[in-house]
Amino acid sequence: MMVLTFFNHAGGVAKTSTVRDVGYVLAEGGRRVLLIDMDPQANLTKWLGVDEDVDLDRTVYPAILGEPGDGTAEVANGDEPDLRLPSPLQVHGMDLIPAHLNIAIIEREILTVFLGVLRLRDAVRRLHGYDFVLIDPPPSLGQLSALAVVASDRVVVPLPTNRKGLDGIPTVVKMVREYKKAARDLDIALFVLTQHDRRTRHDRESHEIIAAQLPAVAPISSPLASRPAIYSDAQVEGLPIPLYAPGSEADREVRKVTQELLAALGMDA
Ligand SMILES: Nc1ncnc2c1ncn2[C@@H]1O[C@H](COP(=O)(O)OP(=O)(O)O)[C@@H](O)[C@H]1O
Ligand SMILES: [Mg+2]
Repeated sequence: MMVLTFFNHAGGVAKTSTVRDVGYVLAEGGRRVLLIDMDPQANLTKWLGVDEDVDLDRTVYPAILGEPGDGTAEVANGDEPDLRLPSPLQVHGMDLIPAHLNIAIIEREILTVFLGVLRLRDAVRRLHGYDFVLIDPPPSLGQLSALAVVASDRVVVPLPTNRKGLDGIPTVVKMVREYKKAARDLDIALFVLTQHDRRTRHDRESHEIIAAQLPAVAPISSPLASRPAIYSDAQVEGLPIPLYAPGSEADREVRKVTQELLAALGMDA
């Protein structure tokens, strides 16, 4: 089982889109995939077509703090060893632990738990039957992001080929180094280049800088092109790109990036 967190503290860099689409391609290829939505905004959950408000006990909450609202959180504060992820929803051939606005409570409650940052790592390691677990954290440097990254074997960094992407790199690299203190073997597996607009000189130049400098840190993927219409329509339909626009250039790019990720992980395509 390989646990990957798609981490970048900046918002709007295509973390959620990339988890959705790479997860779908892996599952379509016969791998057993679990997606974990750790963002209280629940974009991943909604974009996979889950419309109803899910209960908090179907989210990551019970795996981190025990059953919501019944005082187990305090029991778990002792040495309750066996917090587990709830049974997942099924979406497009993948399993999904959905998010709810109220998982934001974890940010505060986890601070009173000794070694709380390891809680999701422990729960994920009790899972059976998955080849990949892909975690979608919120756009922040809070406890939810720390829980997500510390739970993973490798980090995938979605990175737009523009000024915003370049500006965020030092913080991403520094934070992964910080998180390594709680998960020693953690490393960046791949920078996935996103939202690339090759028609603008700014994006082409940013891409050149990334291609010249980042491979010293970790491999970079081929770019996912900026395609606002396809990406926003796929969201409305609740579908991953390969299901919304099969055979399209966008579909081919997502598949290529997934193969590059497998290669970066040293796995056969
Ligand atoms: N390749 C792309 N082309 C155009 N829009 C994109 C692309 N990838 C993502 N987007 C859009 O950018 C916005 C931010 O993406 P999202 O996946 O939510 O990022 P994050 O999870 O990092 O905040 C979304 O509206 C998404 O549809
Ligand atoms: Mg997101």
